[in-house]
Amino acid sequence: VVPRPRDTLGRPLHDLRISVMDRCNFRCPYCMPKETFHEHYRFLKSSERLSFEEITRLTRLFVDLGVKKVRLTGGEPLLRPSLSELVGDLTAIEGVQDVALTTNAVLLAQHAAELKANGLHRITVSLDSIDPEIFRQMSGGFAERDRVLEGIQAALDAGLTPIKINAVVQRGLNDHTVLDLVERFRNTPVIVRFIEYMDVGNRNHWSLERVVSSRELVDRIGARWPLHPVEENYHGEVAERYAFDDGGGEIGFISSVTNPFCGACTRARLSSEGVFYTCLFATQGTDLRAPLRAGASDDELRDLISNTWQNRGDRYSEMRASLHAGEQPLRKIEMYYIGG
Ligand code: GTP
Ligand code: 5AD
Ligand code: SF4
Ligand code: SF4
Repeated sequence: VVPRPRDTLGRPLHDLRISVMDRCNFRCPYCMPKETFHEHYRFLKSSERLSFEEITRLTRLFVDLGVKKVRLTGGEPLLRPSLSELVGDLTAIEGVQDVALTTNAVLLAQHAAELKANGLHRITVSLDSIDPEIFRQMSGGFAERDRVLEGIQAALDAGLTPIKINAVVQRGLNDHTVLDLVERFRNTPVIVRFIEYMDVGNRNHWSLERVVSSRELVDRIGARWPLHPVEENYHGEVAERYAFDDGGGEIGFISSVTNPFCGACTRARLSSEGVFYTCLFATQGTDLRAPLRAGASDDELRDLISNTWQNRGDRYSEMRASLHAGEQPLRKIEMYYIGG
């Protein structure tokens, strides 16, 4: 048996989030602003992205070291041709208990049944507002709300339940549409989760004034439909769960700014070109693709992953408040590159 690494804060390695595609069919200003990600932007060439075989091999090694949950992200993962095949390869790995997909759902209607047939367990859809015009604006002009709703319906029909919706809330932009989003999915198998706007990447013009705290949202939503907190599903669950008193289902709040959860963070991240990051706010990672393509053995790659994890001391979200302006990391990785 391979020893399970612990990082410098005693945290085990339990989740792997894999970005399979750096491109996206949206241009959300907080993630891929149009000014930068225009038609001449140099995205990765397909040969630079890890192949399905490479992703599957690395995932097997991560599983040897403790990973049980895998999430596929992007960019937009459904832009990666034949993604369902990868889902089939990953769900077949012994020890993998959960394979989930984060998508903007534009292409979901055509893929939902195939993803389910290949063993996908769960889907999370990014949908920041149910208001068609605000949603379109928040996607840089590309989102059609009704296509996303069709995608969600197709996933429900395919049996990919429960579905989660992630909505990033920004003050003055979409915070006035929060109640409508809740209302739309109350009494359905869809769980809406509100995310505090974070300072990820280098160009999202983050400021504390734009953050709407979970506390404020719980109060606002609870005033309309009374709520009570629910026990976490598993230790270190990112979202705080609440249920409606009237039995209308549950919602969640991800308080990465006002109540950081680094203490229980067991998440590793792999970029589409094979760089391994130990934090969403990392400034550098460990390249796994070069040794992989140079013929490294499983033992060598596993050691590299294990050593990187053992050296990990990341707790950015917990430190954010105490960092002075000049201490901010200089070049953080971008969300589109590493996924959420
Ligand atoms: P479940 O397995 O369904 O519980 O997934 P999850 O709760 O981990 O949620 P998901 O992967 O959908 O992440 C939702 C959002 O939470 C992301 O888009 C991020 O905004 C935030 N988030 C997730 N993981 C981290 C993390 O490790 N650090 C920080 N700071 N934010 C995170
Ligand atoms: N803060 C919080 N969440 C973010 N996401 C993207 N940028 C941010 C940010 N600044 C989320 C998206 C999506 C996931 C991929 O990451 O809403 O759900
Ligand atoms: Fe695409 Fe998601 Fe980034 Fe929007 S937030 S540009 S949907 S990867
Ligand atoms: Fe984990 Fe880094 Fe997020 Fe903290 S900031 S929860 S260490 S990914």
